[in-house]
Amino acid sequence: MFRTHTCGELRLSDAGKEVTLAGWVQRIRDKGSLVWIDLRDRYGITQLFLQEGTGDPKLMEQARSFGREFVIQVKGTVIERESKNPNMPTGEIELRVSHFTLLNVSKTPPFTIEDMSDGGDDLRMKYRYLDLRRNPVRSNIELRHRMAMLVRNYMSDHDFLEIETPMLIKSTPEGARDFVVPSRMNPGEFYALPQSPQQYKQLLMVAGMDRYFQIVRCFRDEDLRADRQPEFTQIDCEMSFVEQDDVLDMFEGLTKHLFKEVKGLSFDNFPRMTWHDAMKYYGSDKPDIRFGMKFVELNEVAQGKGFGLFDNAELVVGICAEGCSEYTRKQLDALTEFVKRPQVGAGGMVYIKYNSDGTFKSSVDKFFSPDDLKRMAEKFNAKPGDLMLILCGEAMKTRKQLNELRLEMGNQLGLRKPDEYAPLWVIDFPLLEWDEETQRFYAMHHPFTAPNPEDEALIDDPSKWGDIRANAYDIVMNGVEVGGGSIRIHNRDLQNKMFHALGFTDEKAQEQFGFLMGAFEYGAPPHAGLAFGFDRLCSLFGGCETIRDFIAFPKNNSGRDVMSGSPSPIAQEQLDELQITLNVKS
Ligand code: AMO
Repeated sequence: MFRTHTCGELRLSDAGKEVTLAGWVQRIRDKGSLVWIDLRDRYGITQLFLQEGTGDPKLMEQARSFGREFVIQVKGTVIERESKNPNMPTGEIELRVSHFTLLNVSKTPPFTIEDMSDGGDDLRMKYRYLDLRRNPVRSNIELRHRMAMLVRNYMSDHDFLEIETPMLIKSTPEGARDFVVPSRMNPGEFYALPQSPQQYKQLLMVAGMDRYFQIVRCFRDEDLRADRQPEFTQIDCEMSFVEQDDVLDMFEGLTKHLFKEVKGLSFDNFPRMTWHDAMKYYGSDKPDIRFGMKFVELNEVAQGKGFGLFDNAELVVGICAEGCSEYTRKQLDALTEFVKRPQVGAGGMVYIKYNSDGTFKSSVDKFFSPDDLKRMAEKFNAKPGDLMLILCGEAMKTRKQLNELRLEMGNQLGLRKPDEYAPLWVIDFPLLEWDEETQRFYAMHHPFTAPNPEDEALIDDPSKWGDIRANAYDIVMNGVEVGGGSIRIHNRDLQNKMFHALGFTDEKAQEQFGFLMGAFEYGAPPHAGLAFGFDRLCSLFGGCETIRDFIAFPKNNSGRDVMSGSPSPIAQEQLDELQITLNVKS
């Protein structure tokens, strides 16, 4: 047997046993006549012990020849430790070594393989296989595995079939940019990698599969952020003969199941908030409701007092930070700088301090009497000791800016605790979104999303397109969009109208989506679905902001795999075979 136990397994009850372990040398401590080695594998660390004058004299020499990350096999006897380490599961024992086999040598690793590594991000990404040996990274990957297993079992228990869909598909112009793959056998033609299996899962419903799921890789050529990777994984699902409540109940059930099993947490029913309210009260379609500071609109009390900025604004809106009236000039200036950053884009910020003695101090004292300020404070339900922060301007822009300020205040006040979870559904998204630049409507979700039945008739009136609510929903947690989905259009006529609203001619719609439309002529059942961003779900459960930590081999922010060096140029022969001529502008 190569090994009888793992490095995380032995306990005091094993004392006296002859065992064989294998693993990596994490650390060697040489105290002259005594040597200790920490031997590590995926399961933990076991301390090896050697003493001069006992056993084979060669052992000591061998032990001293090992370097960090050498791979060894070791035989020995489990003994009770003299000085125990209560912080380690194996901390009560050590292994008195009787035999070593050197399995492989290692170069000195470029950073320490310990929980707190001395390696920077770039270095750790370049040597990701070494980074993955570290506990925190490995345990993220283990969490991901565990969640995938729980999802598979839950879905299977609820009659969902896991069905694989193609990775080489037809490019579609909606949504993000496609990654494309040239076809050698069809020169000049390209496959696209799926942004999601959306159309295939709908076809599976036409095919009568009734309930489908897949833990599936998706590809999107978009700008990257902490919660975005060019290739990422969805828990993708679709169901036939369901209404919105059936879908929300099913996936709320899955989410609660994961919380229970992984975190030991129980939840009441997730709140549901309309998109309209989410924007009005939080300035975001993914509000973080772990904390309050809901927006308060002040036009009524703030306008008409001679302060031009407020008077000319479409919206005057603010938040109340409890207990922050003592914020210093410096802190307030920093907040003003924060909202003026180009990423936030506000022109400035007004503050009103409701001092603990009941008086007011504001940055607009010149225009507002104490009574005016009091009226505003009442709107906020503010108490002495609170601080009100106010922005103004064009309504939607100002709400988005105030959202950034609210989240910043949440961070500063420690209200966004990573171990606290506040899931909710955001429903009733707009169906269509106007784009100024291209002067056309885009599907806010995707072109197959059904309108809310109450608004269906509006699709016949182009002047009302912006008002149509979609039968679409997102699951949001702690300010992160974890998943989204919709009731689908299953009626060909309605789908044609939708394509029309999106500016497709009949020919273009036929060319792009003909196969789906054709299928809908053969008895498409009413159907609906949803996809979770699995990486995001894992990172939330793991209490981290970046999904990279939960992906074994992620890309960096420029979409590069710095370990393998991709993307990279390809050989001229390959290009010739594909009949591709490059025209790269540097
Ligand atoms: P959507 O585009 O909303 O819906 O994607 C579903 C979820 O996938 C996650 N996600 C990402 N995660 C990491 N990196 C990315 N680049 C990335 N892009 C999206 C998000 C998001 O909520 N076919 C539809 C689903 C449906 O209608 O059933 C779809 O793909 O968590």
